[in-house]
Amino acid sequence: MLRRLIYANHERQLNRTYRNRLANRGNTAQGVFWRSQTSQIARFDALLSLVHQIAPQKLVTIADIGCGYGAMLAFINKTPAYAQTIYHGVDINRAMIAACHQTFPAENALFTIGNTPPKLVDFCVFSGTFNLTHSDDPDLWMDYIFACLDRCMARARYGLVLNLLCAPKAKIESQIFYADRAAFIRRAEAMIGPTHAQSTKYVSGDVSFVITRKT
Ligand SMILES: C[S@@+](CC[C@H](N)C(=O)[O-])C[C@H]1O[C@@H](n2cnc3c(N)ncnc32)[C@H](O)[C@@H]1O
Repeated sequence: MLRRLIYANHERQLNRTYRNRLANRGNTAQGVFWRSQTSQIARFDALLSLVHQIAPQKLVTIADIGCGYGAMLAFINKTPAYAQTIYHGVDINRAMIAACHQTFPAENALFTIGNTPPKLVDFCVFSGTFNLTHSDDPDLWMDYIFACLDRCMARARYGLVLNLLCAPKAKIESQIFYADRAAFIRRAEAMIGPTHAQSTKYVSGDVSFVITRKT
């Protein structure tokens, strides 16, 4: 119960920060705190290529949890390698979902406010969703991340694909969370299922993880 209140408080603070940032910087990579569009796209590419490598079938349904202003859908739409992706975007921030609705007026139904897919998908994908935090406690933040992942796994047929910044020891610095890669894998394997990690190509310090269902 106390944990739930703490998490709700974190999300309130996050919502305020992201709303202000979007208002100041607009629908741009910087509007969701990325350093550049290049690093934003490199992250999408790494996650989507993992999804398509491990999906047992060609057509794959994904939920982009923490979709921001919808940049992943724009990337999918212009990338032939990912044409077989059926996309749904989810974000806890209403301003982000309003921005998606504005950018994709004919596809409003593809975007939902929330923290879980509205229906069963093959994979949930998270890009940068857990990087910014108002907590100063890395253990608490890891608990929050796993509560989110666990909830999403209940709506994912095959698994979860996400990125995190990593450092030799878990830490929060300038409101950015850095995970301990090995500790994250251990916990994901214990709580959810087999986990694979690889450094994200072209993005220093970023790691892409795939967590699959236990068989
Ligand atoms: C760094 S931004 C990345 C946005 C987008 N993935 C991109 O790369 O352009 C993180 C986004 O995740 C959203 N977010 C944070 N925690 C979330 C959660 N638990 N569930 C859903 N969305 C969340 C934020 O509101 C924000 O829009």
